[in-house]
Amino acid sequence: MNKIAYSAFIAFVASLLTLVSVNALSESEREDRDDAGLESITLAELAEHDSAESCWKAIHGRVYDITDYVPDHPTEEEVLLEWCGRESTEGWDNKRPGVPHSPRAEAMLERYLIGRLVDDTGEPLEPGPGEPTGAMPERQAEEATSPAQDERLARALLGLPLDGHYRGVFIDRGSIQVNITFDLRDGHIESLAYRYLAYRGVDYLALEEGDELYPVMLQHRQIAERLEGAPITRIFALYEPASLVDDIDGYSGATLRGAKVISAIRDALNRGVYAWP
Ligand code: HEM
Repeated sequence: MNKIAYSAFIAFVASLLTLVSVNALSESEREDRDDAGLESITLAELAEHDSAESCWKAIHGRVYDITDYVPDHPTEEEVLLEWCGRESTEGWDNKRPGVPHSPRAEAMLERYLIGRLVDDTGEPLEPGPGEPTGAMPERQAEEATSPAQDERLARALLGLPLDGHYRGVFIDRGSIQVNITFDLRDGHIESLAYRYLAYRGVDYLALEEGDELYPVMLQHRQIAERLEGAPITRIFALYEPASLVDDIDGYSGATLRGAKVISAIRDALNRGVYAWP
């Protein structure tokens, strides 16, 4: 009985394997057939689509029109735009040095397929003239930065603020008036707080309800709340504090020195990341 069950099991596994291999075969055949039916595109034609208005890329011998996808890519658009109109296999296979895109990204790419790359005589070009794919040369691999470092370098090169913890101050005539701390994540402000807030010898953070200047402290707290989760560019709204702060107890926007807070935040950005996230 056991023997029969065992034989049945072997037969079942064998038929499964046959199914898998037949399927694999037909998939590769399908790929070949599809490629032959694809429109032929030369490097010169590819090169005409080198901008955000029309962005084509050749990857592993196939050409993709990814114009519509550029704004959705999970990086700054510049990362993709610099490859438009070019043989991009190297960028595709090394989204970070030595790290190819995921199978999910691969599946996504198929939606944008428009043709196959050919040379001037119509012969397929795979993957591209003289461009290696996959593994990097050994020396380059040794010098490669970690993914986190690489992301930071890329943002630094593009002049974008880096994710991290920031601290900055506004000082007037030798005394600190605003000392601020916040986190930046994907260009958005998080956990903005005052480490020190003072004017003419009054420590606002030590004020209590009922104190004459207490409403001004509340206004600053509101600024922090309203900037939470906002893109860093939102700090410029502080030049018109009334757009961020409710008027409290008759204290006007004039009492609140939004410009000082902007200054402290920009000071923090100029100093650079105080601590990595
Ligand atoms: C050839 C130029 C390209 C470069 C240099 C590039 C670079 C990058 C980088 C730096 C990331 C973020 C790194 C990370 O995974 O954390 C990324 C992620 C991603 N990219 Fe690209 N990309 C390119 C083209 C494309 C194209 C054409 C598509 C799809 C049509 C695509 C889809 C994705 C997706 C879905 C992710 C999320 C992570 C993943 O699934 O691998 N990319 N890419």
